Amino acid sequence: MKFDMTSQTLREARKYEEAFGKLILQQERPSFHLSPRTGWMNDPNGFSWFGGKYHIFYQYYPYDAHWGPMHWGHAVSADLLHWEYLPAALAPDEIYDRDGCFSGSGLTLPDGRQLLMYTGVVRERLADGGCNEIQTQCIAVGDGVDYVKYHKNPVLDGRDLPEGGSKYDFRDPKMWKEADGSYGCVVGNRSADGSGQLLLFTSADGFAWHYKKVLAANRNRFGRMWECPDFFALDGKWILLVSSQDMLPSGFEYHNGNGTLCLMGDYDREREEFTEESNQAVDYGIDFYAPQTILTPDGRRVMIGWMQNWDTCGYRRKNDEAWFGQMSLPRELSVQNGRLYQKPVRELEDMRSNRISYENVRVSGPCSLDGIRGRRIDMELVVRPEEGEELYRKFAVRFAQNDLYYSSLSFRPGESILKVDRKFSGSRRAIIHQRRCKVNHKGGLLKLRVILDRFSVEVFVNDGEQVLSAVLYTDQEAEGISFIADGIAKMDVIKYDLV
Ligand code: FRU
Repeated sequence: MKFDMTSQTLREARKYEEAFGKLILQQERPSFHLSPRTGWMNDPNGFSWFGGKYHIFYQYYPYDAHWGPMHWGHAVSADLLHWEYLPAALAPDEIYDRDGCFSGSGLTLPDGRQLLMYTGVVRERLADGGCNEIQTQCIAVGDGVDYVKYHKNPVLDGRDLPEGGSKYDFRDPKMWKEADGSYGCVVGNRSADGSGQLLLFTSADGFAWHYKKVLAANRNRFGRMWECPDFFALDGKWILLVSSQDMLPSGFEYHNGNGTLCLMGDYDREREEFTEESNQAVDYGIDFYAPQTILTPDGRRVMIGWMQNWDTCGYRRKNDEAWFGQMSLPRELSVQNGRLYQKPVRELEDMRSNRISYENVRVSGPCSLDGIRGRRIDMELVVRPEEGEELYRKFAVRFAQNDLYYSSLSFRPGESILKVDRKFSGSRRAIIHQRRCKVNHKGGLLKLRVILDRFSVEVFVNDGEQVLSAVLYTDQEAEGISFIADGIAKMDVIKYDLV
């Protein structure tokens, strides 16, 4: 099989990334979070297992560290943590996608080829000088490196929409394979009420797709337009992941702006009916959006997201950076007590070295511990009250710290609030620097797992009950870690380097 019909646009992108990707030094990138080969990255796309490797594609503009006409970047990995770049897979080079190859998904066809489905974008000029983007779903087939766009593209367009569905907001197809060999797919769409809906399509062969029904409707409950859906069974429940634009805040669960939510419920396969039972935020930190999941060969449901948020992209606005955007850690999903749990993929444990641990450390005021430092670490903390003493009022851990900078996690057991704060991380922009969420704890006992990788922090609370993610562009020399308690707290710490 040969797939060598690359266009001039794709050849140029490949030449460019090959030449300029090399100029970015390893230490200028995250070490085990995927960043773009060059230029800009947003959403993960086509997350799949193909040819004995994990493949991930991403929304990509190689020529600059800001968003531009979307290509698909491409990388492969054996362990979901060490990624090797492959040449860009898709470029906006056809009449139906000339203004961008937006997000989509991938799977393997019975004949061994890889099938990609993405959103083709074409800008339509309006008489008043503005423009509309027509969005359609398109297909490309390939061998894991080179892809040929299907001659019958687009495979879904405005004519496949239900009454009132907008052809301008119709994007991000996520496909799956059914047990009988047929295919399903869910696509984000804007409905007549101005908010989002998820449309279900089916196909016998992965090429000819048919509209089935509205699988879920936002009805202006959670933000407006719904992007980047995913739909799968997990531990006896059905999960719909969706990334919502223009959210209004709701308690400590949802925040203003873009956010990712999980709708959990039941699915009647016969009637193709999803019944919502509960909803929750997917990430309680600052930077997380547009996640996509894969079912690994050993049966784990693993999710990876864009560790960024459209509203906070300005953090790194010097415009002289060689790259922008990174993926989150891949996270194993499960349902426990009716909630979505996330844990870093177990492969991360193979990267651990230099274990240092302390037990029953009494923290009252500030303290630091020998050997507990670093910007590429996996650190487990258990904090609890001192027996016979009154409940501490606040416990905090500071990291990425030196004389000038630090970021922190602070916990107030009296209010059950955990806060991530990067105000003093070196940011010079007026963006969101703090996020608070409600956490569960037993009388002041809280478990945290903190993972740092050069330019980010991800915090897994209570064995994955909640996660908070944020990017940090603090100078790498700031690698101190310290602990502070208002009152008296007891703490166990285990720290590993991740190198
Ligand atoms: C989500 C998103 C998608 C779209 C892509 C464009 O972050 O807006 O809906 O396909 O980014 O890059």
